[in-house]
Amino acid sequence: MLLLTSDPWQIQESDFPVNGKIAEKLRFLINYAILAPSGHNTQPWLFKIVDNAIELDADKSRALPIVDPEHRELTISCGAALFNLRIAIRYFGYQEIVEICPDNQNLDLLARISIGSERLASDREKSLFNAIVKRRTNRLSFTDKALPPSLLSELQLAASSQDIQLQIMPEDSRKAVINLIEKGDRLQMANPLFRSELAKWIHSGDSSSHDGIPVYAQGMDERLDVFAPLISLVIRSFDLGKSQSAKDRKLAEQAPVLLLLSSRSDSQPDWLATGEALGHLLLRARVDNVWASFFNQPIEVPELRSQLQNLFPDAGYPQILLRLGYAPDTKPTPRRPIEQVLITTNY
Ligand SMILES: Cc1cc2nc3c(=O)[nH]c(=O)nc-3n(C[C@H](O)[C@H](O)[C@H](O)COP(=O)(O)O)c2cc1C
Repeated sequence: MLLLTSDPWQIQESDFPVNGKIAEKLRFLINYAILAPSGHNTQPWLFKIVDNAIELDADKSRALPIVDPEHRELTISCGAALFNLRIAIRYFGYQEIVEICPDNQNLDLLARISIGSERLASDREKSLFNAIVKRRTNRLSFTDKALPPSLLSELQLAASSQDIQLQIMPEDSRKAVINLIEKGDRLQMANPLFRSELAKWIHSGDSSSHDGIPVYAQGMDERLDVFAPLISLVIRSFDLGKSQSAKDRKLAEQAPVLLLLSSRSDSQPDWLATGEALGHLLLRARVDNVWASFFNQPIEVPELRSQLQNLFPDAGYPQILLRLGYAPDTKPTPRRPIEQVLITTNY
């Protein structure tokens, strides 16, 4: 059996087992799925290879009960992994076959994916694939350089192909949205349970951590890494709402674009579709060297979510709030090696 490197970011496409069994190909392809973003970098997914198909399961043991009690963001994260997997299958020359939520007796089974007939990848698919290893959440300040209108239209198309609506914040609603982000920070940080959950997933970024958010990914100076254990303690112990909200206000005000992804209804398949749309647009943005980071606070706090929804009454249910723009590069966050996410292989 092909051995993959223990750091999934180091995957080499030249190692694709062209002449291997289907299950070996699937195992290789899963490596690209797990480079997707996830809330607090929990990587809440499990994969099984059964009868030459991949089963993608929600891993609820990695849930975030305070910030995401309904597993909405957990499912969105799995949707982003599913989109990476689709693009990888196409890149290596196959049509993917995907059944969404195929078993209504088993709600953790989010998708069953198999390899269909051979086909050539389009240039668009190749560039999306090449962006998988270049994507990260970038929390640095963005420059004020405007995004090309053609990119924004392509992002709209990416979202609508999943039946997800993408709202580019018009100037006259930006202020109200930024106020909600600020309120979200204050409400979340005032909650000791929220802080304690967040603190559990923040670490110094040493090589033994395969999940969670390293301090360097917070957009802070790398020299502060040595204080990481302290930062976790500080988050747990003190209400940092004032400084966090001031920081986020500045980042949001500077960002050339704020985007909202919304769905028509608010069920598990909508969340999975949102995740696919999110995965698609993050990759498409990277093709043009554009970065993204998240401001989901006003969606995670129920009373703020309805206020956000009232600002855009035709958009449906708010799911993800992002800023997009240009910034210096940033290091990738850790990933669990494939052995930890591929639970059974039946071949
Ligand atoms: C559904 C979802 C919600 C997220 N929410 C936030 C958020 O509110 N704030 C934030 O800073 N990052 C958020 N993130 C980004 C994750 O923290 C990030 O994806 C994770 O740490 C892995 O890092 P990477 O994206 O650089 O690979 C979210 C990601 C996903 C998929």
